Amino acid sequence: MERTLYERLGGMDAITAVVEKFRDRVAGDDRINLKFERTDLARLRKMLIDQVCEATGGPCRYNGRSMKEAHAGMGVTRGEFDALVDDLVQTLHQFKVPSREQSELLAILGPLKSEIVEVNSTEVGTALPDIFRPAPALTV
Ligand code: HEM
Repeated sequence: MERTLYERLGGMDAITAVVEKFRDRVAGDDRINLKFERTDLARLRKMLIDQVCEATGGPCRYNGRSMKEAHAGMGVTRGEFDALVDDLVQTLHQFKVPSREQSELLAILGPLKSEIVEVNSTEVGTALPDIFRPAPALTV
């Protein structure tokens, strides 16, 4: 039987490492970092790991908000979505993830675009609207 994408990516340790490097890259990217101004980053880290783990066939369960709900009112542009995908691709290159696994992961995440993008524009670096209410912080 063909191994799952989760296994081929290297399992939990590899996914955790990719998510952490990706988060650092996003934090330094002025095209999108304003959007994360009021976000609980510990929660985001956990949610991204669970989402990628589950979506690639791993043993996790994502229990965060739907993509529509999580990004509603954030005013994400098409250009900002593409910038985030660009940061992800750079991170996957950095970890030398083979092109087949890269394509499979992007094929899972790409279709979420329509649930996340609210503004059909190539503009980047747009502010987080005041009305946006972030998800509650994780309680341990
Ligand atoms: C395929 C692309 C994307 C995926 C898979 C994704 C995934 C996620 C997930 C799983 C969460 C956590 C939801 C929760 O806490 O319940 C989240 C939150 C968030 N995402 Fe995304 N996202 C994507 C694109 C973007 C883009 C393009 C931006 C902005 C440029 C963005 C900004 C944010 C922010 C700021 C939060 C935190 C919201 C809060 O504080 O409540 N995301 N995203």
